Amino acid sequence: MKITKICCIGAGYVGGPTMSVIASQCPEIQVTVVDISKVRIDLWNHSDLDKLPVYEPGLKELVSKTRGKNLFFSTEIDKAIDEAEMIFISVNTPTKTYGKGKGQAADLKNIELCARNIAKVAKTNKIVVEKSTLPVRTAGAIKSILDNTGNGVDFEILSNPEFLAEGTAIDDLLNADRVLIGGAETPEGQIAKDALSSIYEHWLPKEKVLQTNVWSSELSKLVANAFLAQRVSSINSISALCEKTDANVAEVSRAIGYDSRIGAKFLNSSVGFGGSCFQKDILNLVYIAQSYGLQEVADYWEQVIIMNDYQKRRFAENIVTTLYNTVSGKKIVFYGWAFKKDTNDTRESAAIYVADALLDEKAEIVIYDPKVPESQVYADLDYLGTRLPEENRRLLKVVNDPIKASNDAHAIAILTEWDEFKTYDWKAIYEKMLKPAFVFDGRRLLEKDTMTAIGFEYYKIGQS
Ligand SMILES: NC(=O)c1ccc[n+]([C@@H]2O[C@H](COP(=O)([O-])OP(=O)(O)OC[C@H]3O[C@@H](n4cnc5c(N)ncnc54)[C@H](O)[C@@H]3O)[C@@H](O)[C@H]2O)c1
Repeated sequence: MKITKICCIGAGYVGGPTMSVIASQCPEIQVTVVDISKVRIDLWNHSDLDKLPVYEPGLKELVSKTRGKNLFFSTEIDKAIDEAEMIFISVNTPTKTYGKGKGQAADLKNIELCARNIAKVAKTNKIVVEKSTLPVRTAGAIKSILDNTGNGVDFEILSNPEFLAEGTAIDDLLNADRVLIGGAETPEGQIAKDALSSIYEHWLPKEKVLQTNVWSSELSKLVANAFLAQRVSSINSISALCEKTDANVAEVSRAIGYDSRIGAKFLNSSVGFGGSCFQKDILNLVYIAQSYGLQEVADYWEQVIIMNDYQKRRFAENIVTTLYNTVSGKKIVFYGWAFKKDTNDTRESAAIYVADALLDEKAEIVIYDPKVPESQVYADLDYLGTRLPEENRRLLKVVNDPIKASNDAHAIAILTEWDEFKTYDWKAIYEKMLKPAFVFDGRRLLEKDTMTAIGFEYYKIGQS
């Protein structure tokens, strides 16, 4: 089966980059990305490519090459569904904030709305691809909605979870370790899986496209994120021990990473993982395990989240104790607000929680991030609901000049590993700060010897 038109519902951090890569690699396929958010679609169509709603290295170049040729961004959802043979669902599936499973289960409201919309509009057979991360067995629910509310046409449901990491999304998509396609083990299911495989085979070797049953595919995505986050929490737990024992977490990581059974990747200690996925997907895994009565399995994975919360809290508490047990009225500058470098995404960023803890102690916080606008910083803090929005704006400011921000600061905290922070004139920054001048490096970005030689009181996570 040859696909000529694709529709992708959801123009976010996954839908936008993924479809830009498909459009660039498959010029004969027309790709339309749709979204309910007009604001987001207008930004995707903005003539100034620096205004795209998602910042990813290499993304604007792909968009500029394909937009208006075979890549389109639109709010005309029904039209795009109607025309496409293959529909990707790439909408957000956040943790539920209400009702049964509140705080753990994935909220599938958006997914169900998409399924109902596809059922209503489709007048020809469609392949529906789950690109969003979903609990195992969601494909069954989607199939049931489509078959029971549709216009009598046939739907094949595929699970094709996305493994890209923000900040390296384009490279991850172009050079994927593997692509996973799950589908029904029937002749029709096989045709659908092969149709989707053939898209990826435009740029990836066939052996990198793995086909499985639909349930294995859905579950594998949750498990992949759980294993990755588990490594971060494992090394972060050791960072706390290193600080007490004069061991150095970087040396421990290196020593264990040389063991080929362990491997060197994902062993960097930090202030804690953030992002929209790790926490949400583990909580979802915990919820699924609990709902099948597997309490020990649930408890095991929940510990990954508990350790991550501990690491963020530990970092904030260390700032308070080091600054003579009070930060009230003290100016603390944050370098970085995004959850990692090379993205403008702030969802679940460690910086939000560290700021919240310090604001509780009445610190005066100044934020600088090269890609995150002021409105987003305030939105993140207001969302927590810890204090009134006016109070957040009174105690916390967002600035565009990182060097000027250090004027009369008591401390600088590095919350995101942006490369530019390494290039700053730290001596000049030191001169501007109050003494003793403290730097709390939550990303292990700077060299301890250099910083102490300048005169800083320098704290690096995982090192005494
Ligand atoms: N962000 C990542 O790094 C990443 C990586 C792998 C997988 N995922 C998964 O991919 C999915 C999407 O994540 P994201 O980060 O792109 O989310 P996002 O919030 O950036 O984008 C989702 C978009 O879907 C739109 N949307 C929601 N409901 C809609 C509807 N009914 N009709 C049309 N549009 C609708 C929203 O307006 C939004 O623009 C999630 O399930 C996530 O877990 C994310």
